[in-house]
Amino acid sequence: MSTQTFVGQIVHSKSLNELEVIPNGFVAVSGGKIVAVGSDYSTWKQAAGREVEETLLSPSQFVMPGFVDCHIHAPQMPNLGLGLDSPLLEWLEKYTFPMESRYRDTAFAQRIYQKVVETTIRCGTTLAAYFATNHKESSIILAKEAIRQGQRAFIGKVSSDCNCPSYYVESSDEAVSEARDFVKRILELKSEIVKPIVTPRFALSCTESLMGSLAKIAKENNVNIQSHISENLSEVQVAEEMFGKLYAQVYKDAGLLSNKTVMAHAVHLKDQELKIFKETGTSVAHCPASNTNLLSGMCDVKRIINAGVTVGLGTDVSGGHNPSIKDALVRCLDISNHLHFVRTQSIKGCEEQQNITNFNNESKPLTYQQAIYLATLGGAEALAVDEKVGNFIVGKSFDALVVETDSFPIFNCGLQSEGKEPERDLLRLVQQFIYSGDDRNIMKVFVNGRQIK
Ligand code: GUN
Ligand code: FE
Repeated sequence: MSTQTFVGQIVHSKSLNELEVIPNGFVAVSGGKIVAVGSDYSTWKQAAGREVEETLLSPSQFVMPGFVDCHIHAPQMPNLGLGLDSPLLEWLEKYTFPMESRYRDTAFAQRIYQKVVETTIRCGTTLAAYFATNHKESSIILAKEAIRQGQRAFIGKVSSDCNCPSYYVESSDEAVSEARDFVKRILELKSEIVKPIVTPRFALSCTESLMGSLAKIAKENNVNIQSHISENLSEVQVAEEMFGKLYAQVYKDAGLLSNKTVMAHAVHLKDQELKIFKETGTSVAHCPASNTNLLSGMCDVKRIINAGVTVGLGTDVSGGHNPSIKDALVRCLDISNHLHFVRTQSIKGCEEQQNITNFNNESKPLTYQQAIYLATLGGAEALAVDEKVGNFIVGKSFDALVVETDSFPIFNCGLQSEGKEPERDLLRLVQQFIYSGDDRNIMKVFVNGRQIK
């Protein structure tokens, strides 16, 4: 089996608070898996004594783990940037359900889903948790597109049996049998990179009986679960009235919460609900763009992390208007800063000053290094408890990006290579890409060692 090596600047998260930078480093990949990573390439190469195919990176390039999108609605991509003038429940009725209902047409699904996967790969997404629609055949088309294009993905056929328009709702029996058959059909594809994920849309559009059946299907097949929770205050109120208990308790009682579950948004979770998430191992997909666009609220990610809950990022297209997780990363930092302003500016006069100078770790905004963790390893941990991705550890799959920082829209003109403080220089490149770069700076994308861009 041939071995491929990437030699040059390497960056990856080892944990929330540890971004490792290796200025003169290498990653060696064989059979799609990382077989070595470090800083002494020539010694490794001699000791390894095998033929290697080398990719030598220039001083303006670096390798980092691929982005993980923990929450994206593939069928909503044609609505990108549209209809962001209404809060959630109105937005669903006016824009989202009409678009999603079109995917009963499998030819339409094929045309759109091919472009969706091309687009997210181009943005550097190596792992995505996709919501599709209620339609089984179209959802299978999305899975086959991800397999064909080589993107790692969880594909969810959406389940909804109430409180949806009559043109876009399933009967309860149909919802259960179609969900079961969907999981079976995706597992039969025997893909190493594409898996089914059980997807009740949200508690408002699912009966308790449907949610219970979906939990059973997930458990019987050992597959993941995704849904939405506490995105919007009206939604929370309806959920609590419908079921007479806390929103998170509804999902817990249905058997939907476990360490294979990711819930999107979680903007308005109460302390008691965070405890339920921690106890069950449930993760959160933080979707800052969508939370802003649909006037849902500012999600306090640090509060969720401090409660011991794993967090990743989601674009939430098309509540979110950008398919790039790198964009979500910057918006996540924005929201974290804004929350900090709210905390510190609400205190008047000299107390305000005191609060700013004394602010403790808990109220400090997230750092860009922590946000990189959320966009890569955090997402991988939130989603893929069984997959070994998210950073460069021996034995994990090589899901990675080659980033060029000396091309439009970033011009660092070789200034990074003055070379006295190589680690700091590399961090400059990383910051420039994170804040000011875009998909044009992502030269190559790899999943499981296979180049897909
Ligand atoms: N809640 C239920 N469905 C949806 C959806 O499609 N998008 C968002 N953002 N929230 C939802
Ligand atoms: Fe969503």
